[in-house]
Amino acid sequence: LPRTVIASAGRRGDLHGQLIVHTSTSTDAPVELFDAIRAQGPLHRARYAYVTATLPVVREVLANPDVRAGVDLGTGAGPLGRLGRWAHRTTPMGPLTPPSLLVTEPPDHTRMRKLVTRVFSVKAVQRLRERTEEIADDLLTSLEQQAGAGRPVDLVEAYCALLPVTVIAEVLGVPDSERHTVLEFGTAAAPSLDLGLSWRRFRTVERALSSFEAWLVDHIEAKRRDPGDDLLSQMVAARDDDGVALTDRELIATAGLVLAAGFETTVNLLSNGIALLQEHPDQRTLLAAEPDRWSNAVEEVLRHDPPVLLTGRTVVRDTEIAGTRVPRGAVVTTLLAGANRDPDVFADPHRFDVARENAADHVSFSAGRHFCLGAALARMEGQVGLQRITERFPDLRLAPGATRRDTRILRGYERLPAVLG
Ligand code: HEM
Repeated sequence: LPRTVIASAGRRGDLHGQLIVHTSTSTDAPVELFDAIRAQGPLHRARYAYVTATLPVVREVLANPDVRAGVDLGTGAGPLGRLGRWAHRTTPMGPLTPPSLLVTEPPDHTRMRKLVTRVFSVKAVQRLRERTEEIADDLLTSLEQQAGAGRPVDLVEAYCALLPVTVIAEVLGVPDSERHTVLEFGTAAAPSLDLGLSWRRFRTVERALSSFEAWLVDHIEAKRRDPGDDLLSQMVAARDDDGVALTDRELIATAGLVLAAGFETTVNLLSNGIALLQEHPDQRTLLAAEPDRWSNAVEEVLRHDPPVLLTGRTVVRDTEIAGTRVPRGAVVTTLLAGANRDPDVFADPHRFDVARENAADHVSFSAGRHFCLGAALARMEGQVGLQRITERFPDLRLAPGATRRDTRILRGYERLPAVLG
């Protein structure tokens, strides 16, 4: 964020101000701040926004038809308008601009989402599972070769980043010879979902997104001429009940979003999961004895250390949230990571417990009509990815040098050096 905004947020000293300062200057998840915000009540009114870290209220906001996806700070005079203009300038074209599903609302959102959901079905994900297991095993074999005798390897670079991108390449039907293109674009475009890009980073992301878009135009055309058994070919062919297909712009936006939204988030799920399991050897022992618990363990990783910390909304008609009247134009920040630690929903919420019965009640995939389209795919990748590495290398130990990614809304590791044992 601009230094002036950080300074003024810090001077005000309210909890939302502290949150702005914290997320602008630190890569730690501000768990205590989330608790403090929740302690103010179900919907905390701060100067720039309403904020909530209470799980049922987060769900209520995300389901409210009078609350639109995306943050519109306006362009008026005063600090909010300045922040709005800055946010507008530093938001690259792509996942956060229409017709991306993330910022499109009904009726267009309903129409597009229905078509795309048919393609991203549970059955389709089940079919990808076997292939994901093969991909994970191949990556682990080459990890073993790279590691040699007792040499540390970076698990993010050599495993966490490669598994999701290879799976997305399958989803998009990208031939082996062009897989590196998807990895390059995915890596470069991932920060487009984050906040506060520096000018240099903004330019890099813009360039990556526009080259990817040009590549996608040709790729989609190729799928139209010669469809494969991938999900992108099905999206190209999909028709709604009135026989209407997605437009070319909608197809490009959706395929681009699948790469941007499905890549770094899943990389973060894997890296956060590996780190958490390393910190809790008792939980690894439990999983080794009772492997049926793996799918719940992935839910607990998502709850405890979610790859997306928060999301923002704008009120488009005067409405009521948690019994409070909220006027049109207000911005609402829903702290997904804070809601996941709501003690009224999760007993002893700060404890990492793979046996927690209601772990899956988290909101790490958001809620309401923008609930993550790729949730089933991400859950499957998380389960395969974490179980395979843990079972293959039971003596794996993290080496010094783990660093968090320098992102604000997304949360994961940049480097996770480890000795395989
Ligand atoms: C939306 C999280 C993986 C595709 C979202 C949202 C969140 C999220 C929080 C909603 C944001 C909001 O409400 O403002 C995650 C996490 C993932 C993950 C934590 C991994 C652990 C994936 C994957 C795909 C994907 C693998 C690929 C298909 C999408 C799409 C949307 C979305 C297309 C937009 C849905 C809509 O607006 O209707 N995701 N995601 N995500 N995600 Fe994911």
